[in-house]
Amino acid sequence: MDSLQSLIPLVSILLLVLLSDLQFTSSNKTATTFSLKLIHRDSPDSPIYPGPMTFRERVERYRKISESRVSYWKQINIHNRTAQPNMMRPRVTTADGYTYLVELEIGDPLKTVYLIMDTGSGVTWIQCLPCQLCFPQKFDIYDPKNSKTFKKIPCNSPICKFFKCVDQQCLYSFGYLDGDSTEGYAASETIHIKDEKGRYTDIKDVFFGCSFKSYLATADNSSLETGIMGLDTDPLSFISQTGSFILRRFSYCLVDPTKSETPLFSYLKFGYDMGFIGGAVQKTPFTKHPEFPYEYFVNLLDISVDNKRLNFPPDTFKFKPDTGDGGFLIDSGTVLTYIQDTAYSKLEEEIVRYFSPYKNLVRSQDCPAPSKLCYDAPLGFPLFPTLTYHFQGANLTIAGENSFEVDDEEKSFVLSIAPQSRLSMLGAYQQHNIRFIFDIDSNVLAFVPDDCSKDD
Ligand SMILES: *[C@@H]1O[C@H](CO)[C@@H](O)[C@H](O)[C@H]1NC(C)=O
Ligand SMILES: *[C@@H]1O[C@H](CO)[C@@H](O)[C@H](O)[C@H]1NC(C)=O
Ligand SMILES: *[C@@H]1O[C@H](CO)[C@@H](O)[C@H](O)[C@H]1NC(C)=O
Ligand SMILES: *[C@@H]1O[C@H](CO)[C@@H](O)[C@H](O)[C@H]1NC(C)=O
Repeated sequence: MDSLQSLIPLVSILLLVLLSDLQFTSSNKTATTFSLKLIHRDSPDSPIYPGPMTFRERVERYRKISESRVSYWKQINIHNRTAQPNMMRPRVTTADGYTYLVELEIGDPLKTVYLIMDTGSGVTWIQCLPCQLCFPQKFDIYDPKNSKTFKKIPCNSPICKFFKCVDQQCLYSFGYLDGDSTEGYAASETIHIKDEKGRYTDIKDVFFGCSFKSYLATADNSSLETGIMGLDTDPLSFISQTGSFILRRFSYCLVDPTKSETPLFSYLKFGYDMGFIGGAVQKTPFTKHPEFPYEYFVNLLDISVDNKRLNFPPDTFKFKPDTGDGGFLIDSGTVLTYIQDTAYSKLEEEIVRYFSPYKNLVRSQDCPAPSKLCYDAPLGFPLFPTLTYHFQGANLTIAGENSFEVDDEEKSFVLSIAPQSRLSMLGAYQQHNIRFIFDIDSNVLAFVPDDCSKDD
């Protein structure tokens, strides 16, 4: 088939019903809660901890991640789907292209794999031996022959209706606009979840893409990641597949990797255990974006800087059917936040006004791209404004330190928000130390400030 994306809506209702028969069987059906360790590449806890990096090195990496991600969203043209025959997933790059990795144990015997956590895509896939073309990775590639619980999905399985059958093999293939791609067998494996007492729960027969041909331009042989964990609501995503087990709910709390004193991992949590800490939980409904029905869009109404509202017209961030622009996406795969051009100008203006009384700040023209606003500042300048996103029914207030990246060496700081022409999205940098709960059946995004370094 030439366009998976256009096919999925047609068959998804049928498939969702059929998938319930295919779902894993659990060794303990009442277990409805588990968490997976979530690590940042730059964490000392990461097996490929690169050692201390300078602020510049870090920032440059973050910016590359964000820009490559955004280049995907920019190229979407709602009026000409045929221009993207195979495109169905946001691009995710590796060496410079990810932020948070999920540690997962699969197969029999157990094999640990690290997957990019991606709320902006659906299908989970892993590199598999034998490779026709695999991108380099640090650890041995998963070998299905060595696993007693690996199964290929047969062509007559309802899952294979999403894919194509070639020589009795159910094959998947996704292309990315910039040339990256993944291709392989539709397969299933057992996932092992360890609880805090070290006991395992097995989730059997979880669908995944077993890739024998993947290309990620930026991967190198120090890359830890071996695939992607898709967390959107696509009928084939991890969430949809394990739905009844995890109540179609998950949560995360992203640690700030630049605060190197803290333990730099947290947990991706599923089911009842949302890591809920009490406090003022805010809730806003997810909204449907016609082009991306499985992604997590919310309705942004207005923005405040230091409690001063910018009073955007109410439809500023709404999806515009005539142009295909607009919408506000929650995206763990982007580091920077992006705000649509015209709204961005107004936001930047207000932030400049906020800083104008501080005569010891000097606006710099030498901002790391794509940011447009940065300042030379005395060491320890403490007076960053809060930013508030006013969503439908909820206010998300971002602490000043989560909107500005501070470089102590260079004595400067830079706004972690950049302008974008098509749509707006909340990146990981502004999500630090806020617990986000994605409750799909209730169609609600909930969030509450939290100390993610204390996540357990
Ligand atoms: C299954 O989980 C429940 C609740 O956590 C627990 O009470 C029960 O002992 C478990 N059963 C088995 C067989 O592990
Ligand atoms: C749509 O994209 C195709 C392939 O790039 C191109 O040939 C065609 O002219 C485009 N159609 C429109 C209306 O832009
Ligand atoms: C990784 O690649 C570099 C350059 O190709 C090579 O010099 C190095 O030996 C490789 N490292 C490993 C562990 O294979
Ligand atoms: C959000 O903040 C505004 C003030 O800017 C306030 O009027 C409104 O009640 C708040 N909404 C919620 C749900 O707290």
